[in-house]
Amino acid sequence: MAPSLLSADFSRLAEQVAQLERAGAPLLHLDVMDGHFVPNISFGIPIIESLRKETKLFFDAHLMISEPKRYAEAFVDAGCDHITFHIEATDEPGAVVDHIHGLGVSVGVSLNPTTPASAIESILGDVDLVLVMSVWPGFGGQKFIPDVLEKVTQLRGRLGAHQRLQIDGGIDPKTIGPAAAAGADTFVAGTAIFRQPDPPQAMRELHDLARAAADAS
Ligand code: DX5
Ligand code: ZN
Repeated sequence: MAPSLLSADFSRLAEQVAQLERAGAPLLHLDVMDGHFVPNISFGIPIIESLRKETKLFFDAHLMISEPKRYAEAFVDAGCDHITFHIEATDEPGAVVDHIHGLGVSVGVSLNPTTPASAIESILGDVDLVLVMSVWPGFGGQKFIPDVLEKVTQLRGRLGAHQRLQIDGGIDPKTIGPAAAAGADTFVAGTAIFRQPDPPQAMRELHDLARAAADAS
């Protein structure tokens, strides 16, 4: 499970992150939005720098920004362990992949719901993770778009065992099963975790549902 910070209470970030870390969260999904690539502005370097001091969690940065290559180093310096950029945000994906790997961190590429898997053909063998968006990026709490599951299955067949296949947006107890059955191995959830009465319990339940679906498929 990859809890998305976007849905956390920004007046209690360190406390909520510590709560999930104690509950065994493997990483933290950081939804960075620039108000240009997506129609929303979330948070940036200062928040990440501050949180970095408070937790040992792996920081999985999802950069929903234009010019990802220009800002990647600043996010790594702020403490990000992984950088995912959007294929729609660059016309030189190979150079972005090489640049981020050059910073010493793993790299992922994200596809919007209607972007075909073919759009990442040129870098498919080089990335460490592919992130399939199951909502239009920009906001938490949106409805899952099931059409993307076909793309998940298609990509699963193309990716190596060392490459992660992450799905992001509208993941909840009803949608996580089909997402796991389609081949996703990492599940981003914001609302379904942070907006629940007991976030650690919600995260554990989602984890168990994904495991059961993967075992059954
Ligand atoms: C949307 C973000 C998602 C979002 C997930 O642009 O990339 O990570 O925060 O939020 P939920 O789980 O609420 O759909
Ligand atoms: Zn995200």
